Amino acid sequence: MSLIDKLIVWSLPFVPKPIVGYFSKTYIAGPNLEDAVRVIKDLNAKGMMATMDLLGEESREVEKAYQAAEEYVNILKTIHDERINSNVSVKPTQMGLVIDKEMCYQHIRRIVETAKKYDNFVRVDMEDRHCTTDTIKIYLRLKEEFENYVGTVIQAYLRRTSDDINNLIKHKANLRLCKGIYVEPREAAYKDMAIINSNYKYNLEKLLASGCYVGIATHDEKLVWHALSIIEKYHLPPEQYEFQMLLGVDEKLRQIILNAGHRLRVYVPYGQEWYAYSTRRLKENPKMAGYVFKQIFHLS
Ligand code: FDA
Repeated sequence: MSLIDKLIVWSLPFVPKPIVGYFSKTYIAGPNLEDAVRVIKDLNAKGMMATMDLLGEESREVEKAYQAAEEYVNILKTIHDERINSNVSVKPTQMGLVIDKEMCYQHIRRIVETAKKYDNFVRVDMEDRHCTTDTIKIYLRLKEEFENYVGTVIQAYLRRTSDDINNLIKHKANLRLCKGIYVEPREAAYKDMAIINSNYKYNLEKLLASGCYVGIATHDEKLVWHALSIIEKYHLPPEQYEFQMLLGVDEKLRQIILNAGHRLRVYVPYGQEWYAYSTRRLKENPKMAGYVFKQIFHLS
């Protein structure tokens, strides 16, 4: 962790909430569903697709998990009614994974069932390493029943990822491939960025070459370049992949990818819990604090 990143994280509790709110506006649509709809309408008008994420801490109470699932059902109905181009991204711990795995499965199942009703799609986000096995199991179970209405995420920094991908390829999985955002121990995850990037490239090629649908989630231009070279090498049709980026990050790169004729989806988080979410995530992964700081003050 660099000294600047440490300083930013250390000073977070002293920054007044409205100021955190002002800066987080770039990355979070707002506290309400209408905020997300407004932001997505704007993205759609600019030729981008979206995935909506309801911000929330891990649910430790049954009622909280239930309410989060209800909200996702409502989100899918709203997406349909508002005719916006967006799917949803769901976190298993918000659906109660740490309380009761079967309950979590049933909540996500209900969301995927609703997505199918509206001909939409659910991406099951990947959280820290304690959730990986369960998340993949939930995904494969749902895929058996709902086929292409559901997908999940794989993190290039995990040492287990190549094995997971070899298995998921057999199921023709629909995967978002990202580097991984949680701080993991060296036994579980590569720490060297060059290895993480090599693992990303290696597994991306395996997935695309085997016909899996991939959400290429990165703002790293070297990886974007590599993805484009694979797409060209295998003459992949645009229906087999999409690029994905977080709201507010590197909008120039976003436009470059779009202008080159590729599909691009923006991850749009919203919710009342934006403050807890923003500060927790920044503390969890101080590297993010550095990115945000640099972006706000145009240092890179
Ligand atoms: P890298 O970290 O090298 O960043 C490249 C450049 O992008 C940086 O130099 C910086 O300029 C900019 N940048 C990156 N992130 C930024 C940020 N937050 N704010 C400002 N600038 C930033 N992870 C996970 O573990 N589970 C998941 O389910 C998901 N889901 C997901 C969805 C989507 C659509 C995206 C884009 C990312 C995720 N992630 C994720 C996060 C992912 O794992 C990873 O941590 C970030 O995307 C950063 O990695 P990059 O590939 O962008 O490279």
